[in-house]
Amino acid sequence: MLPPLRVGVAGLGTVGAAVLRLLERQRRTLELRCGRAIHVTAVSARDRSRDRGLDLAGLAWHDDPVVLAQSPDIDVFVELVGGADGPALAATRAAIAAGKSVVTANKAMLAHHGLELAAAAETQKRALRIEASVAGGIPIVKTLREGLAGNTIERVYGILNGTCNYILSRMEAEKISFATCLADAQALGYAEADPTFDIGGFDTAHKLAILTSLAFGTRVDADAVAVEGIETITLADLQAADDLGYRVKLLGVAKRTASGIEQRVHPTMVPKSSAIAQIMGVTNAVVVNADAVRETMLSGPGAGGEATASAVVADIADIAKGDLSPCFGLPASALSTLERAPMQTHEGGYYVRVALHDRPGAAAAIAMRMAEMQISLESIVQRSKPGSRGAMDAVPVTFITHATHEGAIRRAVAAVVADGHVAEKPQVIRIERE
Ligand code: HSE
Repeated sequence: MLPPLRVGVAGLGTVGAAVLRLLERQRRTLELRCGRAIHVTAVSARDRSRDRGLDLAGLAWHDDPVVLAQSPDIDVFVELVGGADGPALAATRAAIAAGKSVVTANKAMLAHHGLELAAAAETQKRALRIEASVAGGIPIVKTLREGLAGNTIERVYGILNGTCNYILSRMEAEKISFATCLADAQALGYAEADPTFDIGGFDTAHKLAILTSLAFGTRVDADAVAVEGIETITLADLQAADDLGYRVKLLGVAKRTASGIEQRVHPTMVPKSSAIAQIMGVTNAVVVNADAVRETMLSGPGAGGEATASAVVADIADIAKGDLSPCFGLPASALSTLERAPMQTHEGGYYVRVALHDRPGAAAAIAMRMAEMQISLESIVQRSKPGSRGAMDAVPVTFITHATHEGAIRRAVAAVVADGHVAEKPQVIRIERE
């Protein structure tokens, strides 16, 4: 039998503590599954005195994660410190340089430095494993890298941020404000330390950049993701979406198109009958469209200590079994430069909500502007129930378009604003169909 795999864990927050508990709870099963024991031998965290409900006796303690990363007493460095740069990056680089395999949940670091780290790990003939970086406990990284290895992938999209899905789900179901829902998500521990990462779409963008690399064999390129958050979504949008047979979700979408690969994160209307529309609360889901499998969807907890620890422990188990396959599915040198499709060429349906001055010809003028841009309308709804009015003399009117181009819709909306028929900046939400 192989000697035990010695693991050092940096970061003993919710996830780190859960990893230690899970490794202990599954000790015997993992030993049988991996053909060797897995022992945590050393840890690193900022505060030695904090009671984490863990027995840390017998483990070496390093205040500096870089020192842990270089320790001769570990074979695997588990990075749960967080942050794109700083100590997490320094320790990960140091661990790989010292010949350790690395397991990380750090989506921000991977989105910005994934290629460098993957290449370094390959040079050292060590593994870099990243399952916990995307969608918490859902094994989507392994699915793309291994389970779908025989496919050409056309599109991967999903709900990748539990905080945003929790906020949108509660706003829709309970008709309560964005601010109240965000405060509750923070209290429940779903949100990032800085929640603008969640609601601004940046957390989703980091995860999407990683999925894109895995799906399309491209170099991770977080700067090529077009990002819009959910801050502008109102109860009126959720109500209008509901009336029209849609639900609003923050989606990350990566898609192969004639003009390159689209990577976009934005609030999205999805048909209420679609599988992704059923995903509520903190749950995440990822849909993959590919030539052989056609479509597959994985859903599960996207945040939380034990769910994320499930992914970390699976990665440690792979390393214990000797899996050194490349982090992003292809050798780092074979990953191609991502050819970015400009947002202006995006093709799809759109929802446009305007607060229209209540006077003859106003709605017709908007329809005319759409027609000028060759935009075909699927539906127009004007509702003037008490309480649904926007600015003083304005009524909310929603338009759903058939497939058109982003450039056309932007030009049409700009013309509508210039015409002076609307009382507020129009709301534009893209529609993603199955
Ligand atoms: N803040 C993240 C979320 C945690 O809400 O999904 C997991 O990355």
